[in-house]
Amino acid sequence: MLIGAKKGSPLILGVGNNEYILASDAAAIVEHTTRAIYLADNEMVTIEPGGFHTKTIDNVTITKDLRQIEFSLEQIELGGFSHHMLKEIFEQPDALTTCMGGRIDRRKNSIKLGGIASHLRELTRTRQIIITACGTAFHAGLVAEFLFEQLARIPTETEYASEFRYRNPIIGDRTVVIAISQSGETADTLAAIEQAKERGAAVLGIVNVVGSSIARTTDAGIYLHVGPEIGVASTKAFTAQVAVLSMVAIELGRRRHIGSHEADRLIRELSATPDKIRRILEQSDHIREIAAANIDHDNWLFLGRGFNYPVALEGALKLKEISYIHAEGLPAAEMKHGPIALIADEMPAVFIATAGPQYDKIMGNIEEVRARGGKIIVVATEGDRNIRQYADHLITVPEAPEFFQPMLTVVPLQLLAYHAAVLRGHDVDKPRNLAKSVTVE
Ligand code: AGP
Repeated sequence: MLIGAKKGSPLILGVGNNEYILASDAAAIVEHTTRAIYLADNEMVTIEPGGFHTKTIDNVTITKDLRQIEFSLEQIELGGFSHHMLKEIFEQPDALTTCMGGRIDRRKNSIKLGGIASHLRELTRTRQIIITACGTAFHAGLVAEFLFEQLARIPTETEYASEFRYRNPIIGDRTVVIAISQSGETADTLAAIEQAKERGAAVLGIVNVVGSSIARTTDAGIYLHVGPEIGVASTKAFTAQVAVLSMVAIELGRRRHIGSHEADRLIRELSATPDKIRRILEQSDHIREIAAANIDHDNWLFLGRGFNYPVALEGALKLKEISYIHAEGLPAAEMKHGPIALIADEMPAVFIATAGPQYDKIMGNIEEVRARGGKIIVVATEGDRNIRQYADHLITVPEAPEFFQPMLTVVPLQLLAYHAAVLRGHDVDKPRNLAKSVTVE
């Protein structure tokens, strides 16, 4: 007799032909069976030769749905790439096409968000949105803070889940909380959700793993549908989270104050993102050369403004977690308030200086760093003739409205981190000290 009991960390039962598998993640069982039961906290399963029984740990028999695992074995295999992370970076155009495909109706130019249809009215009328997440998902949440405030004019705060859960958060009667998590199992994010629910907030989940704890704990939500993300460093989940939150922001804006003409334009621009990412991916070898030229520097800065400030944070996190190079992401204007003291000869400073309302300001920041001997790596908009004279290394991205630039400007930074890690000889998919899903505090 084999007994499995769930508390906190995820636990699923794979149901094969006369075989049963207990595991923490569907990716571990999909080569044996694609049928699984997802246990919730304080539930257990007893497995015997004749079959299995599910009950609570108080011995009350319960019935659990037998779910179909949505992805296949080949989706979790390398498919010719040298690492899962590289495969997932290159999957982004197709992943975003899938993620947005079933939700954007290009004929009617409308957005359909079935997963949160029950809460769209409350979201449209809400006084405040609080977004909570960890790591890369937090950075996607920061982009969403800008999106909701600019496109839907809804006051939005994005909080680290690990901070939110312990600060006795103030949640008003018309507050909606959105939790973002690729794995749907992050302990701090789960705890933040519990805190929000205890205070009466409606909680929505933006999750990739179907049937995960966060997907089952939140009141409603939207699945990314980008397939399993195996590399510990999150890439396609980030761009998909931003794409989903962009659709939510456009839909809320359309319901509140954006005219249909502007909504049509935004939907058209958002839908063009996958092809724009394809063009950026063609620069992978060029980006590898930039990584090679700077691989010996142990301290990097990543700087952006507005929508690209969260991307600067994400770029720094990517480099840190797989190449073990120390990096810091900052709002570019913050340089003068201390960090500029760090600038030394040859210290790489990665600027996201794409076309937008703060372009001239960020050019000033670039000159400040250059004047102090820093090495300037710039992500700029295609066709920008002015920037070349300031950049030691230049990577370009296609033109896009500032709202949708993060899904583009993050791609060069993902590749920069990936190539740096490979050049340093590290295990890109399983970096030291890290887990794909942080199910402990
Ligand atoms: C990102 O590359 C890291 N692997 C990590 O920061 C991750 O984003 C964080 O642990 C949150 O994970 P989740 O999205 O599964 O909740």
